[in-house]
Order: sequence, then structure tokens, then C-alpha cells
Amino acid sequence: MKVTVIGGGGRVGACAAFALQCGGVVSEIQLIDANAAMAEGEALDLLHGAALTSDQKIYAGDYAQAADSDIFLITAGSRRKPDESRLDLVNRNVSIFMQILADIKAAGMKQSAIIFVVSNPVDILTHLAARDSGLPWRQVMGLGTMLDTSRFSSLIADELNQAPTQVKALLLGEHGDSMVPIWSSASINGLPLAGLPQWNQGLQNRRFDRTKGSGAEVISRKGGAGWAVAIAIREVIHAIALDQKRLLPVSSLQQGAYGVRDICLSVPTVVGRGGAEEHVEI
Ligand code: LAC
Repeated sequence: MKVTVIGGGGRVGACAAFALQCGGVVSEIQLIDANAAMAEGEALDLLHGAALTSDQKIYAGDYAQAADSDIFLITAGSRRKPDESRLDLVNRNVSIFMQILADIKAAGMKQSAIIFVVSNPVDILTHLAARDSGLPWRQVMGLGTMLDTSRFSSLIADELNQAPTQVKALLLGEHGDSMVPIWSSASINGLPLAGLPQWNQGLQNRRFDRTKGSGAEVISRKGGAGWAVAIAIREVIHAIALDQKRLLPVSSLQQGAYGVRDICLSVPTVVGRGGAEEHVEI
């Protein structure tokens, strides 16, 4: 499986490429960036570790070389400032994004290609890709609340001093200020989190507020997210590559589940080789 990272010279794109390299599942990683020298530098740095990671082809290239990609991972765009919401980016990033879509289409795409959007505001950009890419809606998805869900579960585990991979706390809806915590399903190894002796309303509110503000918190401390967003991206790409049919909170064009249609946001979605294969209404 070939993944082309558009924005591969930026922090999120390069971190995602590294996560995919360490994951060792995809066979080819191509980096494209408006700053071609940066994409070349990142690709070279990754290539230097190839002998110690996995047998993949890693290189910087252009749109013509990307035409046979299985996944177009779009991370390019400007980043928000700490006091801006993701929606404030819409004016700056829509034109960049439309140009990227036009470049992908001009170079050509496989019929089975998947466009996977990470740039913000992710739900809106995913909608534009679903509308204009020419691909069926199932083949267009956004990272949605994948990162938020990882942050939420990790932060809860940290505060409760529990094993992070055993805590499952889901966020759905918008990757933005209106994200929705699904407290009713929050669990630790299958048991309700709310049953833990340390659990209380204050802790619950604190963890959700911290999660909601996490993007801005990371921006103010180090300029923007990199590692966790990359791991969330890898989770989705591996689900596609291995046709895992995992139920993930990715963003895609809604078709009526939960009474929502014609906008992109995250609901529990079966992710496999076909992309966002099915929305599951629970
Ligand atoms: C964040 C960006 C990826 O939440 O939106 O850090």
C-alpha cells in the first residue's frame, strides 16, 4: 500500500510518516510539500533509518508520481494560533486545500484511492473533498475525533493512574469546540469508569475540559501537535491497509445515522480497505 503525505515537510506530515515507518505495514511512503527541500530533507532523514525499521520505499516526490497512491494523506495548511479556534483557519486553509485537490485530480487517481484529511478545520475540509474529489463518499474521510479520543483516554488514565491502553473514553461529533464526550461508554477493561472509587464529577469535568483545550495547549507549549496526531493517523491507515473493519471515530459525509446528513463529522464508523465503510448507529 502506497501512502502519499501532502504536507510531508510539515510537523504533522513528517511525524505521521515516521509513525508509518515504525508501524511497518504500508509499503511505500511518498512526501510532497510546497517546500520541496523540506520534504526531501524529511524523506532523507526517514530513509536513513530504513535499515533499522522496515522494508519500505520512502522518498519525496510530486503529484505526477503520486497518481498510483492508495491513500492521499493531507496534512498541509496553516496552523492556528493558541487563541484561535480551528474554525478560524477556514479562510486561510480552504484555498490551499482546494488547490491540493485540484493538483491530485489533475495528476489522476486510482479508482480505489482514499483521501484522508487531517488539515483543519478537518470536518469542513473533509466535506469539500467529499463534494469535489469525484470519489464516492466512503473513500473520503477525516481524522475527526480520533486524536481527541486518544487524548481523552490517555489523560483520564494518567489522572487515575491506570494503564492507558485499558481506558476507552470516546469523543464524537466535531473535531473542535463542540466535540461530545460519550460518558455512558467510558470504561476500563470493560468495566464502567464511573465505578472506580476515585471517579467523581469534578475529575470528569476536568478531564473533558483539558482534552477540549489540548490542541491549543500543545500549540502554546511547542507550536503544534505532532506525535499523538501521528499515532492517531497510523491507527486509521493501518485499519485501511489491513482491512481491519475497526470501529473508529473518523469524520465522513453523514448519510442519516443519528439524524445527521450532508455534513462531515465523527460517528462510530467501520474503517477498512473501502474507507469509511459504514456508519454504526448505537
Ligand atoms: C490538534 C489539531 C491537530 O487538535 O487539530 O492538535
